[in-house]
Amino acid sequence: MTTDTMLQATDLTKEYLSTDPPTQVINGVDLQVRTGEFLAVMGASGSGKSTLLYTISGMDRPTGGRVHLGGQDLTALGEADASRLRLTMMGFVFQQAYFLRNLSIRDNILLPALKATPGQKKQVLARVDALMERFGLARLAARAITEVSGGQLQRASICRALVCEPEIVFADEPTGSLNSQMTGEVMDALTEVHTDGRTLVMVTHDPACAARADRVVYLRDGQLVDSRELGTWTEADADRRTGELLDWLRPLGF
Ligand SMILES: Nc1ncnc2c1ncn2[C@@H]1O[C@H](COP(=O)(O)OP(=O)(O)OP(=O)(O)O)[C@@H](O)[C@H]1O
Ligand SMILES: [Mg+2]
Repeated sequence: MTTDTMLQATDLTKEYLSTDPPTQVINGVDLQVRTGEFLAVMGASGSGKSTLLYTISGMDRPTGGRVHLGGQDLTALGEADASRLRLTMMGFVFQQAYFLRNLSIRDNILLPALKATPGQKKQVLARVDALMERFGLARLAARAITEVSGGQLQRASICRALVCEPEIVFADEPTGSLNSQMTGEVMDALTEVHTDGRTLVMVTHDPACAARADRVVYLRDGQLVDSRELGTWTEADADRRTGELLDWLRPLGF
């Protein structure tokens, strides 16, 4: 693995043994993600996209194969070390924000970082406020999570993902519950995460979102069946890229 590689999954498999017969969800995936790359993962519902994201990020253990992240063998780490790595090196954005209802927006963003880096309260507070300012949330800091829009909530979860300054951000359908205007806001925020130089791996069903990525891979029945390089996204090129992506996706059965 070279320093240009942020993440390398080799012959990755995931089988759920709780079902009868066991469900083979990931079926020998080899995947390399370059440092600073924005990779989109597409595929039909049930093809294994979330499972792939969880196994390459160490949220879930694969049944077989290896995952190297930033030079470390994630699959060889014990739970405590894997958890520490998730808190300090990785950021996560999900379809739902999973915020605590009785805390303000700001406290929800703050809490995991304070837990991850106790003793750095001052630095964490400064980073949280800077991120909230940057993503247009400063004036909503004291609001309850029920008092903001879905797009604002999702931008808050992007702030939460960035507080510990992760090298890689994993997003699972971050716009899956949003209307088109909010989708644009959230994708603008994620595009900034990428242009800051962070590696970004995003699962999406939305070709316009995937068209923002540098590269798109397509998953079918737990196998990567195709991959397409798109190069660097620009706003002016958005429609053309989405059109090209759709032309690529259709024969794959999308
Ligand atoms: N804990 C589990 N036990 C057994 N089977 C599971 C479990 N979690 C997921 N699966 C199965 O694994 C397959 C892939 O699920 P996964 O959630 O990764 O798909 P997905 O591509 O993310 O789908 P979607 O687009 O609907 O989110 C599905 O057939 C699902 O039923
Ligand atoms: Mg999923």
